[in-house]
Amino acid sequence: MKLAKIVVVGSINMDVVIRVPHIPIEGETIMARSVQYYGGGKGANQAIAMSRLGGDVHMIGRVGKDAHGQRLYDNLLENGTKTAGVEWDEDQPSGTAYIYVSDRGENNIVVFSGANSKVDVAQISRYEHLFDDAEYCLMQMEIPRETIEHTVQVCKQKGVKIILNPAPAQPLSEQILEGLYILIPNESELDLLCPGPGSLEEKSAKLYGSGVQNLIVTLGAKGSMLMNEAGVKYFPAVPVKPVDTTAAGDSFIGGLTIGLSNKMDLEAAIQYASLVAAITVSKMGAQASLPDLAAVEAYLAGK
Ligand code: RIB
Repeated sequence: MKLAKIVVVGSINMDVVIRVPHIPIEGETIMARSVQYYGGGKGANQAIAMSRLGGDVHMIGRVGKDAHGQRLYDNLLENGTKTAGVEWDEDQPSGTAYIYVSDRGENNIVVFSGANSKVDVAQISRYEHLFDDAEYCLMQMEIPRETIEHTVQVCKQKGVKIILNPAPAQPLSEQILEGLYILIPNESELDLLCPGPGSLEEKSAKLYGSGVQNLIVTLGAKGSMLMNEAGVKYFPAVPVKPVDTTAAGDSFIGGLTIGLSNKMDLEAAIQYASLVAAITVSKMGAQASLPDLAAVEAYLAGK
């Protein structure tokens, strides 16, 4: 079976992971248990998640000309992601995410965009040929918004299905939403996109009503919800003891897209995505925790 070509347009970050007993509150000083560096960035995480699962993945992104940039670029290559669309920025350092991870596996993240802020329309134009025979394009929101808007237009012209992860959440124009194949926020992103009162399904219906073909809301340990023309359906999470939830969403999206490109229907792809995400949260780090095909099979064999 010929693999579906997938283009990821997104961020590449060095994650500085700070293990702490609990997430500090405002004004609190606490001692870290450890500090470690991991490859991250929502775009690169999703690209590597799919490459490890056997996908034909092409990344468009940007790193700084620094030691972090070299390591992040090498991570992509070593995991089988095609890097022709990844450029080196002369002025900005590589993107960096500062991530607290508590003993309970909860996290919070502060991102410095660095080179990711220079993934511009001109860069997309330089690699427009990558979209020619692509089936899916994945984007998140750690690169400039006008780049996302432009890429949406390119994908629409070329018939590429767009999967958008609105993270971190920011208002989405009709121009972006109309015709998206899948919009996939988590619960807090859904709240930011649809502020004010309303249940999960009411808020989802508002977004779905903007012309999105499939809306999937990831709900952490509660699983996920799909809203589309067939109605609303809930999917349970695969139970797991979380060690670090960083990249849970990224691995879910990667698993989902690989499921679809392996010709699973949407519901089967969501179940596969839940499994990939469960394996990811049982390990530390973003890219470091993403399973390959062998790890997924080993997990299934152990069940
Ligand atoms: O989704 C997790 C990612 O968000 C981290 O790897 C970090 O880099 C931030 O972009």
